[in-house]
Amino acid sequence: MAIQLADFPEVTKAPPRAKTYKGVQVLRHDPCGVEILNIDLAQPMADGTFRAVMDIWHQGLVICFRNQDLTAEDQLRFGRRVGELSVIHTPEFTGEDPSIMYISNVKKNGEFVHALPIGEMMFHIDQCYQPRPAKATILYAMKIPKTGGNTLFCDLQRAYDTLDEETKARIAGRRVMHVYDYDAGATHTAAAVADDAPRYVHPLVRTHPVTERKCLYVNRLMTREVVGMDKAESDALLARLFDHMENPEFVYEHRWRLGDLLMWDNRCTAHARRDFDPEQERVMRRLTVLGEAPA
Ligand code: SIN
Repeated sequence: MAIQLADFPEVTKAPPRAKTYKGVQVLRHDPCGVEILNIDLAQPMADGTFRAVMDIWHQGLVICFRNQDLTAEDQLRFGRRVGELSVIHTPEFTGEDPSIMYISNVKKNGEFVHALPIGEMMFHIDQCYQPRPAKATILYAMKIPKTGGNTLFCDLQRAYDTLDEETKARIAGRRVMHVYDYDAGATHTAAAVADDAPRYVHPLVRTHPVTERKCLYVNRLMTREVVGMDKAESDALLARLFDHMENPEFVYEHRWRLGDLLMWDNRCTAHARRDFDPEQERVMRRLTVLGEAPA
């Protein structure tokens, strides 16, 4: 399980395909990831355009609005339209609003003051260790390093669809325990986690409430066991599922530009972060939108 993201090959695919959907200009990446080119989130958005954006998100799993210049209030307004915002569970990292969290390597008096400041992060799903994990994460790039710090997205629907029938039958109806230890394993798989680390059991395979597509709902950073299975068998099954879902064919690698606002669907993607030079500032403003209990 102790695989480093540094071993993950750089994902470069064919250039994205340009399309227009209900007046929204998009560039579609493979297998997921859609750039939206002609929307300024600082301006009011018509209901029809918002519905088109949500359709594009449900199909593309990750959307990126390029060239945004957004206040916290602009980001909150868009987030509230997507759904009920989650309150940040780490109050020391809260920003202008209880639902804003900064992910940055900014230091004050020599100490990091924000969440997840440096380093790579293995594939994970935001808040999967809670009863109602986030459905959306909305991340806005305010400062980015010259190189590194890319975020990778794995299409968990494609990962499920491509499993062999025997494995699909073996995992059907199974449940898994997700645990997140903010101190021991925030960015890597911890050998041991604290007894009081937040944890929750969810189905191993979940169905998307909007598209009704099935996906794998596991990840290398936080999924620790298949409930009711012998430990060795559980470890082996999870390791096989992690290796399968992290096939570069199922991954879109996002190379950040200043002013990108990304929204990803945590119900059917897992994401990871590449390492970057800790001396170069990387500042992201994050919101999460509360999801439904996975089923
Ligand atoms: C996260 O996993 O929420 C952070 C992703 C990133 O910093 O790119």
